Amino acid sequence: MSEKATLQIGDKHYDLDVFTGTENEKCIDIQELRSKSGYITMDPGYGNTGSCYSSITYVDGTNGILRYRGYPIEQVAEQATFVEIAYLILYGELPQESERKVFSAALNEHAALHTNLEHHFSGFPKDAPPMAILSAMLNLVACFHPEVLEVHSEGPEFDKTAALLLSKVRTISAFAYRMATGKPFNHPNPHLSYCSNFLHMMFSEPYKEYIASPVVERAMNLFFVLHADHEQNCSTSTVRVVGSSRANLFSSVAAGVCALWGPLHGGANAGVIKMLEDIKASGRPLTYYIEKAKDKNSGFRLMGFGHRVYKNFDPRSIILKKQVHEVLHELNLDDSLLEIALELEAAILNDDYFLSRHLYPNVDFYSGILLRAIGIPLNMYTVMFAIGRMPGWISNWKELLQHDQRISRPRQIYTGYTERPFVPIEQR
Ligand code: CMC
Repeated sequence: MSEKATLQIGDKHYDLDVFTGTENEKCIDIQELRSKSGYITMDPGYGNTGSCYSSITYVDGTNGILRYRGYPIEQVAEQATFVEIAYLILYGELPQESERKVFSAALNEHAALHTNLEHHFSGFPKDAPPMAILSAMLNLVACFHPEVLEVHSEGPEFDKTAALLLSKVRTISAFAYRMATGKPFNHPNPHLSYCSNFLHMMFSEPYKEYIASPVVERAMNLFFVLHADHEQNCSTSTVRVVGSSRANLFSSVAAGVCALWGPLHGGANAGVIKMLEDIKASGRPLTYYIEKAKDKNSGFRLMGFGHRVYKNFDPRSIILKKQVHEVLHELNLDDSLLEIALELEAAILNDDYFLSRHLYPNVDFYSGILLRAIGIPLNMYTVMFAIGRMPGWISNWKELLQHDQRISRPRQIYTGYTERPFVPIEQR
């Protein structure tokens, strides 16, 4: 017999179905609760609400586990290329060599931007935030590809749209940087790997081609792999909400970029570096910042700490911390911000306020130091997150349609005025 939960309201009992996931996670299905009882559930911020069934990514926040399609993040980070992981997240299995070749060829085919699209960059002010440019341009790409505007979650149309977005997000991001710095665009080079090609578009100059060293290419690949998906986070949920109206994939992921921009989400990676730079410049002791973060009236939070799901270490931050040491060593770099970060982490791990609230370093805490070592400018950090997250956004959009999920439309409990008569303007 399938498991049931019983809810008692007054003297009435309601039997609710219980569903168990493949990792033994359980949920109570309340889809019919309102029609049967008149009650809704209340969960602002959705901390206790499942919005979908998904087979893409598994997170166990208590034990610090993250798996893409079953593969542990530690193994993936060590061995996989971002292109393989994008394929895995999109299609459910690691690619065979022949499949990888076809996928890579599609990424190369769609890397360039339509020349009319390139002209749009000159319309942005030089100091435009790259996240605004990225979101706007992703939406604009759709105008140049009406053939893939139809909503398809599989088949050649979907394959083309997915490859196009995965490839163009990288070109748009690099061009946003080139435009802001007044430098000519570097067009994609099909002979380079996904990461080297991005770094070439960012950093090659007319007088000197940028050739990524193996260390830098590996670090870039790792960064993208670690960001590739993270189940129902704010931006992915946004993509799903937008997609649930059967909006096309371009506008759905453009909305995801906007959600990612916020400092509590992807914007935290730049926030961490700004905070560490501020600590360094001010000369104040770390305790000043730690006490300020505990003071609810200060409006200040320690960037890079805390997570809705992880109540233990974020496994991505453990991998990044190790990599940051290795990359700095291999590149013969010394970053004083790393010293401050390590001291801050040690202090937090000994502080009751943070321990009792299970606030540990998250993915954003060390990622900025890695990006600094690669030479990525600060205002591009969250854009880098967006490039990495693109497979997760596309795959969640695809799954939503494959499950034919209903339009997202939460309920509310109204707390405003009850009915009152309208007052004409001369009588107010
Ligand atoms: N510094 C100080 N206090 C904090 C912090 C922090 N970074 N994070 C949470 N708290 C406190 C918070 O004040 C609350 O205290 P109390 O119970 O006394 O009211 C408690 O911890 C729980 O916090 P919450 O805001 O209810 O937790 P949440 O799950 O709603 O928010 C979070 C999660 C990540 C938004 C939050 O921890 C935060 O703002 N962190 C800083 C920003 C950051 O690093 N974001 C990146 C998140 S990971 C990658 C990503 O998603 O992009």
